[in-house]
Amino acid sequence: MKDKELNLFVPGRLCLLGEHSDWAGRYRTINSNINKGYAIVTGIEEGIYANVKPNKILVINDNEKNKTFSCKMNKEELRKIASEGSYWSYCAGVALAVKEHYNVQGLEINITKTTIPVKKGLSSSAAICVLVARAFNQVYNLHLNTLGEMNLAYNGELETPSRCGRLDQACAFGKNPILMEFDGDKINIKNLKLGSDFYFVFADLMKKKDTIKILSDLNKCYPFPNDEISENVIKCLGEINENNIKEAIKYLELGDNKKFGELMIKAQKDFDLYIKPASETELSSPTLHKMFEDKKVHELCYGYKGVGSQGDGTIQFLAKNKEAQLELVKYLHEELKMDAYTLELNKVKHIKKAIIPLAGNGTRMYPITKILKKAFLPIIDKDGIVKPVIMSLLEELDEAGIEDIYLVIDKNDQKDYDNFFKKELSTEISSKLSKEALEYENKIIRIGLKLKYVYQKEKLGLGHAVSLCKNFIGNESFLLVLGDQIYKTNNKKTVTRQVLDSYEKTGKMTISVYNVPLQDVSKYGILTGKIEKENDYFLVDKMTEKPEQTYAEEYLYTLNKNKKEYYAVFGEYVLPSEIFKVLEKNIKEGKKDKNEYQLTPAIDYLRSKSEMIAFIPEGKMLDVGNVPAYKNTLIEKMK
Ligand code: UTP
Repeated sequence: MKDKELNLFVPGRLCLLGEHSDWAGRYRTINSNINKGYAIVTGIEEGIYANVKPNKILVINDNEKNKTFSCKMNKEELRKIASEGSYWSYCAGVALAVKEHYNVQGLEINITKTTIPVKKGLSSSAAICVLVARAFNQVYNLHLNTLGEMNLAYNGELETPSRCGRLDQACAFGKNPILMEFDGDKINIKNLKLGSDFYFVFADLMKKKDTIKILSDLNKCYPFPNDEISENVIKCLGEINENNIKEAIKYLELGDNKKFGELMIKAQKDFDLYIKPASETELSSPTLHKMFEDKKVHELCYGYKGVGSQGDGTIQFLAKNKEAQLELVKYLHEELKMDAYTLELNKVKHIKKAIIPLAGNGTRMYPITKILKKAFLPIIDKDGIVKPVIMSLLEELDEAGIEDIYLVIDKNDQKDYDNFFKKELSTEISSKLSKEALEYENKIIRIGLKLKYVYQKEKLGLGHAVSLCKNFIGNESFLLVLGDQIYKTNNKKTVTRQVLDSYEKTGKMTISVYNVPLQDVSKYGILTGKIEKENDYFLVDKMTEKPEQTYAEEYLYTLNKNKKEYYAVFGEYVLPSEIFKVLEKNIKEGKKDKNEYQLTPAIDYLRSKSEMIAFIPEGKMLDVGNVPAYKNTLIEKMK
């Protein structure tokens, strides 16, 4: 059962614009004249960390607070606890929502760390609901996608006295901005792409606010307005909000920080003009408004507004740059004694750097590897040229726009790479080559200019090989391709380009996968998850190295077009630079497996902290690391 133990992280969420429009949009089910609601929401860096595993009953241990709760997975008992409004009600509510639809047992949830501030408009309650929904989904393979988890979390929260809107469950989508559309009971989600980096700050005003009263006052304006005040509220949360959101998306995509900041200020003015009168006592919020006059805030920020239900709860700012962001946090903290947090949203950058580990011994290809590295094994490529495997791989990376390629090699092998990529041909040879062959030679030299060597003295494993590139990669995400694999596309684009395009759509760590028959799963690393787009990609719940067939059949399939499929790692990875920290830690702690520092545990650790995409390219991965695979590669390449 050890495999069923999972580490999860769910962040809190911050609504950047469009608060209250979630519940307002819901009134369209009664009054079709009401506009759809729109909000831009993102997960934040702070959140809840937990370790979860199957159990007969529901057990929750909050290790920080030293509190424990347990309850049978019995609907009546769960309903009773959910309705009490206690600390555990959210967990019981979601467990009940799960039990209504699925025949599953319980869970043991160990909350290891909570970094999200509670009751500050950042939806810590929604985060715990999503965490419980995700835990059931992943432990019992319920095959729900993110929207499905969000719905389960919402239904769970509805069993409790708390009445948070649909907006709060956006934390299920992780730390990237999304557009949420609220159309009656329906919700649509769209990922937003940023044109540049944005540096937000949010802070607790350290005052009190009464969310229940605010919501109760505003809801009185719905579903049919009966005076000017309620007409204004409906207008502001409807058409005015819709226009603001449209503008905001434009500025986010253009990367126009200044205009986005001005829009935050405008949205606050709209709120004060049209919505405040409906709940004057709660929404006058003197502390919030005093902050809008603060000289230092003006100096450091492009924009500012209240957060969540508004009132004197939380404030958010858009700082002018990273330095201004840090200075503002310091000012809020030290001078105004407020709890302040940073939120940096980054533009998804094109991947320009790649790592190819090539230092392995290649023992499975003995005896040829006594004199020839696997990288120099010959293949006949689709262009009819006999070339070393590494050249086919490098051409693929070159076509995909990669500019710097780091080859991890044994220093003794450098002469082979230099001879092939750097050394000019003698006139005796070049005079005998065809025009096409000379053109190809130019290509070899041109690609050779992109190569840089990183030396691995001891063969301590793939994880170790990657860790050596830390200083060359910096803070960027990068592409990792294994040196003993090549690709064959079934598409106009190369496999590598397809992988990079998929990454650029989501900005999330991405691993390419391909479909393998059940009887072969024990040869591969198998990724399991929930399909977000059929035949395209899924969010990874689990990574399992070389599983047994019987175990995989029950727990490791992914449903694609309602078929049970098994997806193996394909060999291309887009990884964030955070991987180096994790690898370094594992190496320092001597965390070896089969006497090597592996890459998979480090990737799996990052997956548990944020999201990871498994992308299914249109094409094949061809291996040259063992004899049957090499034979197949030669045949496939010649087809
Ligand atoms: P493999 O797992 O195929 O290991 O490495 P290997 O040593 O090349 O081959 P066998 O198992 O002895 O037959 C996958 C990729 O990682 C590189 C390899 O060169 C290969 O491209 N690698 C592996 C390193 O660069 N350094 C290492 O310490 C281990």
